[in-house]
Amino acid sequence: MRSVPVITIDGPTASGKGTVASRVAAHLGFALLDSGALYRLTALSALEAGVDLGNEAALAELAGRLDVRFEGERVLLSGREVSRDIRVETVGLAASKIATFPAVREALVVLQQGFRRAPGLVADGRDMGTVIFPDAPLKVFLTASVEARAARRYKQLIEKGFPANMDDLLRDLRERDARDTQRAVAPLKPAEGAHLLDTSNMGIEPAVKQVLEWYQSLSAR
Ligand code: DC
Repeated sequence: MRSVPVITIDGPTASGKGTVASRVAAHLGFALLDSGALYRLTALSALEAGVDLGNEAALAELAGRLDVRFEGERVLLSGREVSRDIRVETVGLAASKIATFPAVREALVVLQQGFRRAPGLVADGRDMGTVIFPDAPLKVFLTASVEARAARRYKQLIEKGFPANMDDLLRDLRERDARDTQRAVAPLKPAEGAHLLDTSNMGIEPAVKQVLEWYQSLSAR
């Protein structure tokens, strides 16, 4: 189990880590863990079930019972496709709120570690390198300025047919960054030994290439 390689890609919302992670995984033939989706799925379940977003015990119970399946780009919750539903901003914000609860995070640990299967895993999130896969041979911390991230998120939302407003996006990103970096448990920060990659002025392809080069230089050692 421990010998199955993991590449962790952590970073703030809309830093491009999801796209970079999925391209790196595809290139290496590795599995992919989008850990943010698990927090989003828990948030969606809570919103749909009318569970109070402040009720830590009830949220942790929901997280522990998540019936989730990833099929390529599709995300299924109890057999129902929710790929679009989990991407809306209200669900993202709710996910960021419930992710501050230690019991919710704890309830998702085993589920996340279960994605580690041969020949390897690329895991993206906030605490992949610091908490969930601390022994990962390659850890990357992907950042970008809040303006660059807001511009990307804007483009993504418009392309997907969602309404978007730049000022709202900037405000939401700042709010979410503050919560993700300041929470007491598993805050967003670079893992020890993580490679830093600032993509403010970089396209996705060069970022993917850089991660693959880091990985190849590890394998060559
Ligand atoms: O990466 P994302 O935007 O889909 O994540 C949604 C929220 O989930 C994010 O605001 C914080 C939380 N999250 C977390 O706390 N830890 C992770 N490993 C991944 C996401």
